[in-house]
Amino acid sequence: MLSALRAEAAFAPESGIIRVMNHARASGKPIIPLVAGEGHQPTPQFICQAASDSLRAGETFYTYQKGLPELRQALSDYHKRHFDRDLVADRFIVTGSGMQAIQLCIQAVAGAGEEVLVPTPAWPNFAAALGVMGAKPVSVPMQFDSQSWALDIDALEAAITPKTRALFVNSPCNPTGWVADADLLNALLKFARKHDLWIIADEVYNRFFYSGARAPSFYDLMEADDKILFVNTFSKNWAMTGWRVGWISAPPALQQVFENLVQYSTSGVAAFMQRAAIAALNDGDSFVDAQVAYCHKGRDLVCDALEATGKIRLERPRGAFYLFFGLNDFPDTMELGIRLVDEVGVAMSPGEAFGPGGAGFMRMCFARDHDDLISATDGMTSWLAPSD
Ligand SMILES: Cc1ncc(COP(=O)(O)O)c(C=O)c1O
Repeated sequence: MLSALRAEAAFAPESGIIRVMNHARASGKPIIPLVAGEGHQPTPQFICQAASDSLRAGETFYTYQKGLPELRQALSDYHKRHFDRDLVADRFIVTGSGMQAIQLCIQAVAGAGEEVLVPTPAWPNFAAALGVMGAKPVSVPMQFDSQSWALDIDALEAAITPKTRALFVNSPCNPTGWVADADLLNALLKFARKHDLWIIADEVYNRFFYSGARAPSFYDLMEADDKILFVNTFSKNWAMTGWRVGWISAPPALQQVFENLVQYSTSGVAAFMQRAAIAALNDGDSFVDAQVAYCHKGRDLVCDALEATGKIRLERPRGAFYLFFGLNDFPDTMELGIRLVDEVGVAMSPGEAFGPGGAGFMRMCFARDHDDLISATDGMTSWLAPSD
């Protein structure tokens, strides 16, 4: 049966993250869930209220493919507030999640057999979505020098071929928490201009930055004619992972193209979800600030506890909400992920799920309840201690 399908669909890889998640679910035991990329708080009431008001008002019909004009304007205002740039509402296309934003950007720039450079470790969905499209992710491993992660422009240069169409840049990074500084973003932009590549800038964790109001962004450097597609989501900033709503920010000249791509996929995001997204953007700044502050404390809590074991390699993440740590004695982290569920009662993601460069590491989400983080690190500390 499988062989009757398109190979790209039939052999799309199973996500290593979902594998551990499913093992934890199947165990039937209470497991501390640090595996998925989400916090423990439900979406704030003022956002839910906007959605239910919309439904009650009868907004149940087909809607704008590109997004409600009010939402696109709210996105423009949000970017003015946080990035101090005048970006017209026409830049913004509302999508059914950050994942769909990624998918549509791939559809727009990379066809069958074409290549996209992906620094790894990276969130696996990007490379897998490229593969499903018949395009090819070209992994460019980042280096971990026992203290910090680094991306080398020469390694990107070496990976260029005549088929290279785009560069994927995820900063702050899931899973490593690495953040590109302004100099590196500048160097990446020059590199993309030189080779006439698109940049797909995944800045979904931009606000989760622990040494300033937000991480450096391509918005700080971009010229009007730069070929940059930004993908983003409501999932992380406003605790809306289950809603599935995101956005693309693209040069306004591409509006019609993206409208068509939305039309031929989901045909738009439900109006009530878009009303919720407007409330999140217009009234959600203090909620985001509180979430980031909570994650900052969570980061320090897990890093302090695990560093104290003396058995763990890590860089204290500068952004996003994951700790990517290495355990010297456990090279097979898929097996380790399963053992930690069974023996410690904690679910985390295996590093090899994030591509070359991730082997030997585990990813822990620290956007979680601090009591859970304490129980998880206590459990890990005892598990790692010699049993004499
Ligand atoms: C780096 C990155 N990009 C995009 C997304 C997509 O977010 P969503 O599909 O929940 O909107 C995620 C989710 O984990 C992510 O980590």
